[in-house]
Amino acid sequence: MMTAQVPAGKFIAFDYVEFWVGNAVQARDYYISRFGFKPYAFKGLETGSKELVTHVIRQNNTILAFSSPLLPASKSAIAKEMTAHHAEHGDGVKDIAFTVDNAEAIYKAAVENGAISVREPTVLTDELGSVKIASVRTYGETIHTFVERAEYKGKFLPGFRIIEESIVEPFENFTPSLGLLYVDHIVGNQGWGEMTPVCDWYEQKLGFHKFWSVDDSVMHTEFSALSSTVMADSEENVKMPINEPAKGKKMSQIEEFVNFYGGAGAQHIALRTEDIIHTVTQMRARGVAFLPTPDSYYDNLRKRLAHAPITVKEDIDVLQKLKILVDFDDKGYLLQIFTKPVEDRPTLFYEIIQRANNSGFGAGNFKALFESIEQEQERRGTLVETCDYKIQC
Ligand SMILES: [Fe+2]
Repeated sequence: MMTAQVPAGKFIAFDYVEFWVGNAVQARDYYISRFGFKPYAFKGLETGSKELVTHVIRQNNTILAFSSPLLPASKSAIAKEMTAHHAEHGDGVKDIAFTVDNAEAIYKAAVENGAISVREPTVLTDELGSVKIASVRTYGETIHTFVERAEYKGKFLPGFRIIEESIVEPFENFTPSLGLLYVDHIVGNQGWGEMTPVCDWYEQKLGFHKFWSVDDSVMHTEFSALSSTVMADSEENVKMPINEPAKGKKMSQIEEFVNFYGGAGAQHIALRTEDIIHTVTQMRARGVAFLPTPDSYYDNLRKRLAHAPITVKEDIDVLQKLKILVDFDDKGYLLQIFTKPVEDRPTLFYEIIQRANNSGFGAGNFKALFESIEQEQERRGTLVETCDYKIQC
């Protein structure tokens, strides 16, 4: 069988991330109050969208969209689909959209190579021009939308009302802006043995390549383990780490996610900042809950840095106070911290990341991170032997 040449176009950046949630307006307000986003665009009854509401928020180049049905499932096909999705997964990431240079070519190549079509190439038009979009299904019930915006002068998408930037969001009166810049990477959790097939999907359908990988010989604690492979487009503008659980004495956090989410899905969204101390200080002031890190981690870090060829310019005492993690190699370092899950189910969480000549993913911190997650699992009663926890085992 002939296969289409991939990549069939350029992946420029993450465009937006759309969540399907139970109550979009309240989800929007959570991210405004805690994460410092501002309202950006809206589609709903007032704009003529009779079955679906979408609230879009923005901070620098990070755009998040929250959608909910407006009608009972019995009265609308889209409401039925969204309600079923919500019943299975809870609030979660539905669509990871990429800005591309040729949505139709990328879509066609993906589908010719076996990707499942969700939306054929469609041109959305208003007085500011047109946007071409097309979507395919990736892992679980998650989709990718390819967004081609070169012919559009508007701010988001046709069909949306743009919310004036000059409108002051009341929370801006309490804390300064957070400085979250853009999506650095989005991690997808898979079930047992699913990492390689999913990575193959990105390679064969989208023309991505393996950027980095680590297996359970590195990614483990005394109790649990996982493997991870990072897939990236040819220009490495978009990075999609893919995780799977590995055998350990207790249930892997990846397995816990899959059990609670009802399948594969987006586990965490990493947001980039150039001043993590400022960002995390302000997020803590706004009440964001982060995973704790023991002081012993920083004692150990100081010893390792004493012999390192690089210098961390941030004050380690301040990083320790804020519980920010440090990973480094011979050339540079990164600073990162992880929130607790932002849903009631232990599913989606966020990473805040600052990079200083380091394009890694914090492998040196995995053990500390996993031990911190395991403490949370212990509190949830899910740090049990694999498949002893009776959810879809
Ligand atoms: Fe990450």
